[in-house]
Order: sequence, then structure tokens, then C-alpha cells
Amino acid sequence: MNGHWVKKKQILALLDHRDYVSGEQIAQKVGLSRTAVNNHISQLLDYGVDIYSVKGKGYKLSNPLPLFDEAKLLAAIDNRCFYFDEINSTNAFMLQHADELKTADICIAEYQSAGRGRRGRNWVSPYGHHVYASIFWRLNQGMNAAMGLSLIIGCSIVKTLEKYGVENLGLKWPNDIYKDNKKLAGILIELSGHSLDECNLVIGFGINMSMSNKHADAIDQPWSDLSALGEMPNKTDLMIDLHQQLKSDLRLFELLGLTPFIPQWEKHDLFIHKEVDLIMAPHSLSGICRGIDQQGAILLEIDGQITPHIGGEISLRASAK
Ligand code: BTN
Repeated sequence: MNGHWVKKKQILALLDHRDYVSGEQIAQKVGLSRTAVNNHISQLLDYGVDIYSVKGKGYKLSNPLPLFDEAKLLAAIDNRCFYFDEINSTNAFMLQHADELKTADICIAEYQSAGRGRRGRNWVSPYGHHVYASIFWRLNQGMNAAMGLSLIIGCSIVKTLEKYGVENLGLKWPNDIYKDNKKLAGILIELSGHSLDECNLVIGFGINMSMSNKHADAIDQPWSDLSALGEMPNKTDLMIDLHQQLKSDLRLFELLGLTPFIPQWEKHDLFIHKEVDLIMAPHSLSGICRGIDQQGAILLEIDGQITPHIGGEISLRASAK
């Protein structure tokens, strides 16, 4: 671990979201000068950690900051696990190293300086607040088989979160996980070195754990996180379990395709049997959502006829009608 993160983590371990801790106390406990503590705090602010500072009182976190336990991750994950305090993007890292990676290797980070969302958007990735990870998978059936894969990843994330007692989860075709009808997590799958019989997949996902007001303002759609739960899932345990779940679901997908996942998808599909608009800019279609087919296409009923629709730019919105 880079030296400055050792000190920053010691400081963060002393901060709390309920009470203020004085700069003096922090300086004493971590063996730094007050000025050095101030510098680390101001750098942590730049990394997106939301810290209140009040003269005469000291410092306080705006909300819980769940960090990964690196040693536990490395011990429990039985594939290569690349853990970073900071990185540009876990997806970019895995794509860059695709030739050296093996199926199920994973990259996990506390902070992304250039987190990628779908459609060229930014994925705001403040230090420690959320989960940012990418798993590598070499699919022997080639690129065509990769269609519909994001639906499985959505199911894996929902199943894992449910094990931790997270309720009211839903899936929005093709890539989003919702809680209480607000976006909780997103998936970005990127391909490298694909041919007809083999393709390298980098499957990235971000899960909101503990959103601060500061970052919430920068998000242009309703969001949810896991901080309001009675007990927030332990981020390390959640990641370890999710890695296992992804492995077992992806192996099943390689054997049997999407078929075994369709009932799971339907159970959580937020739009099934509802009036929807399917936007394929500059066009859009209106109809009734009838779930997904074996390829992962969305089924849309228009004038009694059901047709599949698939494509990177398709998005689904609740009908305005
Ligand atoms: C979306 O737009 O909904 C997809 C968001 C995917 C974000 C994750 S965070 C980890 C991985 N690395 C990235 O740069 N993006 C994905």
C-alpha cells in the first residue's frame, strides 16, 4: 500500500459519523503534526470523503465510511484479487491486463478517478463510500453468447444483497439494480479481444453503500444506498460472497445459457406487464413489457404482437401515458 494511504487509513479509523474528534487527538494517536493531519484531511476531501470540520470541535464524517478489509479479501478470494486504494477505473485496469488475466480474477478499488458508466457517462466514485469492482471472464462461446450477460449479473447482485437482508430490490432491463424504486447499482460490461469462439469480458459493477449529501447532488436520477438499513452489510463480506455468486452464476450460464435465470429475472423485473416506452434514440416504441427472451432481449407487446428488442443504446422508461 502506498505510504500516504497507511496514514490516511489510520486517520479515517479514528473518525466517526456521530461525534467530532479533535485534530489534536488524531495527531497524537497517529504520530503526526497537526499540520500533517490537516493536509491528509484536505487530501481526503479531494478524494471525495465527506468530512465536516468545525473550529474548536474537530472532524466528523458526514455518514458511515465502510472500507474494505484488504487482508480478508485477499485471504478469502480464491482467484487473483487486485485491490487498490485508488485507480482510474477497475474496468480500465482489467482491460489493460486482459492478456495476463484468468477467468474470475477480480479488481476492487476504494476510489476511481475516472469511473465509467454506461453511454460514456461518468461513474462518480468517492473514496470508500461505495463498492467499485470488475471481474474478468473468458467466454469460450464467443461474443454472441455474451448478449444478455448483464441480466445474470443483475440477478447475482440481487441474490447476494438479499442474503444480507436487503429488501425491495428490483431489476431494470438491461443493467440496473434498484432499491425502493431508486437506482442502487449499475453494471458496465466491456469486451476485449473477441472472436467468434472466444471473448474476454470485463464485468464492472458499482453498488451504492453510503451516499453523502455532497455526492448525491451530483447524481441526475433518484438513487438509493444501503446506509439506511438497520445494519449495513459488511462491505468485505458482501464482496467475497458476491464474487462466489458471480462465479457460480457465470459457470451455470456457460452450461445452460439464460434459461435458468429467466424466473429470477421475472421475479424482480420492475417493468413486467407494465406500459413502457422503449427509447432507441432518435426513435421510441410504446407497448407492454413481457419480460425477456433466451437471448436477453426485452419482449415488447404492441397491438397484441410480442417482439424482442436488443441493443446497447436501448433504455426503458416508465410510460408517460
Ligand atoms: C451504469 O452506468 O449504470 C454502469 C456503472 C458501472 C460502474 C462500475 S464501478 C466499477 C467498474 N469500473 C468502472 O469504471 N465502471 C464500473
